[in-house]
Amino acid sequence: MADNTVTLVEVGLRDGLQNEKTPVSPGQRAEWFNALVAAGHRRIEAGSFVSPKWVPQMAGTDEVMSLIRKPAQVTAEVLVPNQKGLEAALQTSAEVMAVFTAASESFNRKNINCSIEESIERFRPVVEGARAAGRRVRGYVSCVVGCPYEGRIQPSQVAHVTQRLLDLGVDEISLGDTIGVARPREIHALLDAIIPDTGTDILALHCHDTYGQAIANITAGLERGIRIFDSAVAGLGGCPYARGATGNVATEDVLYLLEGEGFETGVNLQHVAELGASICNVLARDNPSRTGKALTA
Ligand code: HMG
Ligand code: MG
Repeated sequence: MADNTVTLVEVGLRDGLQNEKTPVSPGQRAEWFNALVAAGHRRIEAGSFVSPKWVPQMAGTDEVMSLIRKPAQVTAEVLVPNQKGLEAALQTSAEVMAVFTAASESFNRKNINCSIEESIERFRPVVEGARAAGRRVRGYVSCVVGCPYEGRIQPSQVAHVTQRLLDLGVDEISLGDTIGVARPREIHALLDAIIPDTGTDILALHCHDTYGQAIANITAGLERGIRIFDSAVAGLGGCPYARGATGNVATEDVLYLLEGEGFETGVNLQHVAELGASICNVLARDNPSRTGKALTA
């Protein structure tokens, strides 16, 4: 892949909507998925196969999957925390299954009710089963710079968890600044600890924008050769296990940066901006994307 090609993983329909107070219907989620495809996205998270008692907003992800229109070049991606989730996900055409753990013990307990080590063991058959079924596997590591319960996290701890996931056979690691506290210097320190072991091709950065640093952090990632970034249309989201955390970096803002810096994504900024404005309208929320607001004013 050319060095000026960037892949965006659109996470708004999962990371964003999992935090909405009022669940959005599967029909509406599928319609937005189709609109993201029409805007040029190639990798889109469609939802999660998690416990509906823990995250009711993601119930009906199977229905979303059955309603979407997906050209061959588009991958639908879903979160699976355990075997039960995998079994449900394998009934759908999702090409990528994402397992998720954290570099912080406390966050992991709140999020998936087990220790880091237990989560890795829980994922072992999940990764094997997904790969045996011909699906790709993404491994999320949350709290790569800061944790709402433990404060700053050491890069060496993130490198350790990353390696454990890679040893299981995951194809890609997404490094999550779950509560959006990172700054570029910390992203560099993090990547210093990881890239020598993994290279850049299998790494993604997943930035939340709580402190307004996400675009600066993505720029740091670009400088280090990262070419996969997670973002959410209209900056949807937050984190149910991290008080005060805002949404993912807005796809509109990332696209504006990337276009100016000469990177190709295949995604149409104006289309995404219009979709973002329309989603905010339906959800009756403000649009946190500065680019989105500027382009649809
Ligand atoms: P648990 O309560 O420890 O699990 O939850 P359990 O095995 O004891 O099961 C409890 C109940 O849940 C049972 O039902 C199971 O059947 C059911 P009951 O018998 O009580 O009626 N259950 C399920 N139902 C549907 N699908 C499943 C499933 N598994 C069990 N897959 C569990 C453990 C992991 C399931 C739970 O903690 C959970 O679902 N957590 C979800 C957490 C989540 O979705 N968090 C948000 C995503 S992560 C994130 O946002 C971070 C990220 O964006 C990156 C970043 O920003 O850092 C990715
Ligand atoms: Mg997230």
